Amino acid sequence: MDEVLVKCERLDDFGRGIGYVSGKIIFVPNLLPFEEAMVKIILNKKKYMVGEVTLLLKKSSDRIEPKCSLENCGCGLKCLKYSKALEFKKNKVIGILKRYAGIEGVVKEIIPSDDVYFYRNKITLKVKDGKLGYFKNGSNELIEIDRCEIASIKSNEIISILKGINLRGALEITIKDFGEIMIIIKGNMDISKLEGHAASIYMDDKLVYGKENIIAKLGDLKFYVSREAFFQVNLGVALKLYNKVLEYLDNSLGKSVLDLYCGTGTISLFLSKYFSEVTGAEINEEAVKCAFLNKQLNNISNVRFICGDVSQIIHSLKFQADNIVVDPPRSGLTKEGILDILKIAPSRLVYVSCDPMTLARDLKLLKDEYVIKEVTLFDMFPCTYHVESAVLLVRK
Ligand SMILES: C[S@@+](CC[C@H](N)C(=O)[O-])C[C@H]1O[C@@H](n2cnc3c(N)ncnc32)[C@H](O)[C@@H]1O
Repeated sequence: MDEVLVKCERLDDFGRGIGYVSGKIIFVPNLLPFEEAMVKIILNKKKYMVGEVTLLLKKSSDRIEPKCSLENCGCGLKCLKYSKALEFKKNKVIGILKRYAGIEGVVKEIIPSDDVYFYRNKITLKVKDGKLGYFKNGSNELIEIDRCEIASIKSNEIISILKGINLRGALEITIKDFGEIMIIIKGNMDISKLEGHAASIYMDDKLVYGKENIIAKLGDLKFYVSREAFFQVNLGVALKLYNKVLEYLDNSLGKSVLDLYCGTGTISLFLSKYFSEVTGAEINEEAVKCAFLNKQLNNISNVRFICGDVSQIIHSLKFQADNIVVDPPRSGLTKEGILDILKIAPSRLVYVSCDPMTLARDLKLLKDEYVIKEVTLFDMFPCTYHVESAVLLVRK
């Protein structure tokens, strides 16, 4: 049974088509609801199968010709109309919140990205046997690329230059484009053809060309972007997200904010002019160093930053805050962290999340003491199944 006929019934949370073969579920990337296709089975487990479309027999009216024909590179949903991709993401979060947290009727809208292509300000490419590309999902098989349709235009120019260089000594190349370009190389290579095209080049953690940090502009603020510290990958959507965070908080006179998992201080500094006092907490030393520099760069005085593990910081320091913003990594909050937030008992809590599953798990623990008022979604990552959420929680 190498090839089977599959009728797609719906999409799973990863944007893969779902069908059934003799009653067994099969997941097929690039197959849309109501489409039919001949599918090659590439994984056959006891309870499920995974397949690849070999021949599309019935096409959905929601299908579009993707700009890029790469498959399994990390992108997905490229063949789905943008309006339908947004609908998929909204329904996915609605479903996850209902299934895993028993929360319904709170997802308000999904804010689109102005740019569906060329939006990413950071990409990490792999190098294998001198060839440049992405690793196929879940493997270290290289998919060679000439360009990447979601990376910024300038990053694509750097890709073209890299294609003309002998990359045999390199393992991984990260390109950050915030107007100024930073290139971070793991391994070794000749960088002479890159000089002049980048403001900063690192090789094996050492600065080998240009300056230590580059600068990003977000609204009327400027931020240092460093080699290692986190920065939102889609600046246009990040600004819309930060404005929503502000709208969700209580900024009446004299109110304070605690910004947990603050990265390079972007949310803290963005909020500073609307609050009497903002405190940011972050574990990554390089990010906190940038946060201090960013505070100076923007002449802001009512913000302080603390470096350390959020769970320990909020447990050991006696914080009082009218508002708390949390923007944790995909793993979400810890149980202890949630208990400490409940002890601080801010009147408003805004939870920014890039993973609806861990968000649902954490909201389930918070919802006894907080009303989940509203969720706004942001399409931070077009052409993928990922979605960013901002949730307003108000103390009961
Ligand atoms: C999704 S980023 C958010 C950054 C920031 N809010 C922004 O918008 O740029 C999550 C941040 O949490 C930090 N982080 C991860 N685990 C942490 C922990 N246990 N304590 C403090 N910060 C942590 C990461 O270093 C990262 O900067």
